[in-house]
Amino acid sequence: MNRYYLTTPIYYVNDVPHLGTAYTTIVADAISRYHRLRGHDTRFLTGTDEHGEKIERSAKEKGIDVRKFVDDASARFRDAWPPLGVEFDDFIRTTDKRHVEVVQDLWERCRKNGHIYEGTYEGLYCVGCEGYYTEKELTPTPEGLLCPMGTHKPAEKVKEPTFFFRLSAFEQRLLDFYEKNPGFVSPESRRNEVMSFVKGGLQDLSISRTSFSWGIPVPGDTRHVMYVWFDALTNYLSALGPEGTSLRSRFWPPDLHLVGKDILRFHAVYWPAFLFAAGFDEAHLPRKVFAHGWLTINGQKMSKSLRNVVEPLKLAEVFGTDVVRYYLLREINFGQDGDFSHAQLVARYNAELADSLGNLLNRTLGLCAKLRGGGVAIDPTSARGELEARLEEQAATAVLGSMAAWDEVAPHRAIESTWTLIRAANKYVDEAAPWAEAKKGDAGKARVDVILATALETLRWISALIWPVMPEVSAKIRAQLGVLPLAPKQGEDLLRLHWEPRSDTSGLSLGTPVFPKIDADRQAAIFAELGVVAAAPEPSSEKAEKADKKGDKKPKAPLEPAAEITYEEFARLDLRIGKVVSCERVPKSDKLLKCQVDVGEPAPRQVVAGIGKTFAPEDLVGKQVVVVANLKPAKLMGLESRGMILAASGEGEGDLALLAPGKERAAGVRVK
Ligand code: MSP
Repeated sequence: MNRYYLTTPIYYVNDVPHLGTAYTTIVADAISRYHRLRGHDTRFLTGTDEHGEKIERSAKEKGIDVRKFVDDASARFRDAWPPLGVEFDDFIRTTDKRHVEVVQDLWERCRKNGHIYEGTYEGLYCVGCEGYYTEKELTPTPEGLLCPMGTHKPAEKVKEPTFFFRLSAFEQRLLDFYEKNPGFVSPESRRNEVMSFVKGGLQDLSISRTSFSWGIPVPGDTRHVMYVWFDALTNYLSALGPEGTSLRSRFWPPDLHLVGKDILRFHAVYWPAFLFAAGFDEAHLPRKVFAHGWLTINGQKMSKSLRNVVEPLKLAEVFGTDVVRYYLLREINFGQDGDFSHAQLVARYNAELADSLGNLLNRTLGLCAKLRGGGVAIDPTSARGELEARLEEQAATAVLGSMAAWDEVAPHRAIESTWTLIRAANKYVDEAAPWAEAKKGDAGKARVDVILATALETLRWISALIWPVMPEVSAKIRAQLGVLPLAPKQGEDLLRLHWEPRSDTSGLSLGTPVFPKIDADRQAAIFAELGVVAAAPEPSSEKAEKADKKGDKKPKAPLEPAAEITYEEFARLDLRIGKVVSCERVPKSDKLLKCQVDVGEPAPRQVVAGIGKTFAPEDLVGKQVVVVANLKPAKLMGLESRGMILAASGEGEGDLALLAPGKERAAGVRVK
């Protein structure tokens, strides 16, 4: 039988659960539910990361005993997930005894195999992300050198005795591993990043600290505590218990580590190297590390103050848990950066949940009540025609498409596939028009039966397809259909659906709508409750004047339209969707980025873009952009540029917004 072991990162307890961490956890839950639905022996692990200098400092700043601090904070995480519909199998804490023992054992194995040695570390350390950096990797600012992970405090110089891990010895082995296992780092663009990082050369890694004590003691030398990432990564192993125990043999190695792009290097480079060093062979390494992008909120970077507005539990209370889950999984192409927007949530809710799925359910049940009320027998097949055959086929396609998408860790595509079926089913009801058949009296009876039975059967399939994302909604829909809620069991594939239209209308109940429409008044009330500012109101002249006195900007005068052009002139522009395949800074320029952009041609094009003050190269890789593809080639700082990437200006060169399609589009698609 298939088994599936997946993990979220373990969360630092100096923070509280927020939308970013909720996002990863909800995605993990949906994937785990998908595997349960397929009958796989599934294990879903999450937990908290509780050691390290950052946590020790946070507790001290608050004047709380560290152990009490981590106990309370860890409980906040554990309690945050179930109200978001998240059902984990295990919650690991790095302060658990079971964890400490396995970490010390892993250390000993690495040491005995000759991969740990003593020395002195002198260099830069960022306490914010608990990472070591070379000066080159950091950005100089007036406050000091800042790490690329967006931590706000500068990196600190440290010099202390340490144990080193011989990371440099694993360079080639890692590269061979990535070559042989192309799916290990996903998505592809991230894999390229990781490989070029390793190809750039690996330095030995300091894996112990002596300047604080809140960590796992190094076996045999208790002056040292372990580097928090050596400790933390091992949670995925320790949660299964020591070698030889049943969970370990049943679930190791993990099938999927879900991580944010900021912690990919730790998972894709350090973690397999630690495991190699401890004696694990390739067959016993994790199968996939999938790095997802970062969320912004209403277009802005997540900050402590913004987080209040999108406190996940509050959102779930207001909109409903399943709606928040649906929105997050549908809105963001998993792997890419995305935006959480309240307005967009409401728009999707109304269009996709209320008008599409909700409507299909209500109208079908409404028609049943009207045309075949009272639990009567219906004949589901005798008048079956082409429309029914087509819908059945579309249902089968939706199931296959959705399964393939989940298997490829693409929840947004699984949802899209399901909604294709929902739209098809609505169209089917329109076209089959049972109300018109009913008017024919006895002559139309058989058709009415078939149409109702077909729509009900499609809804039953849909209730299974949405279960990983919206388990509660699935149960509600099934209750209205008069079928039992899904109860996944190992070994039973509940997505192996059989087309079995029913032969009576008993058990149907047209209940309260699952998705009542959110009208403008309700939206305003919700936004007020959440403290969301829907759109910045235009400052009145009085307000603008005041703002101006305070030094704030006045609203700009409207732009004069440029000289008119004809459509033919416009059509001469070759505007296309491009996808940034790789990107690097142009040496000695803080503005220029050299990008290789796939514009649907056999090879990517080189485009040199003046957007480097707003974007770091890694922000762009994998992004979709709009390219002027027939711009005369030009040379910028000696580099050929064949095209231009479109961006909208803001408050200067550090504030550009890239133009991108509202939906994923294939590279090379024409923009017109
Ligand atoms: N403790 C480490 C992980 C150790 S795993 C062995 C850690 N913890 S964290 O709490 O800081 O971050 C956990 C995860 O939350 C990361 O994957 C990070 O990418 C994710 N997110 C934090 N803010 C986020 C957004 N704004 N958007 C999406 N995810 C983000 O790192």
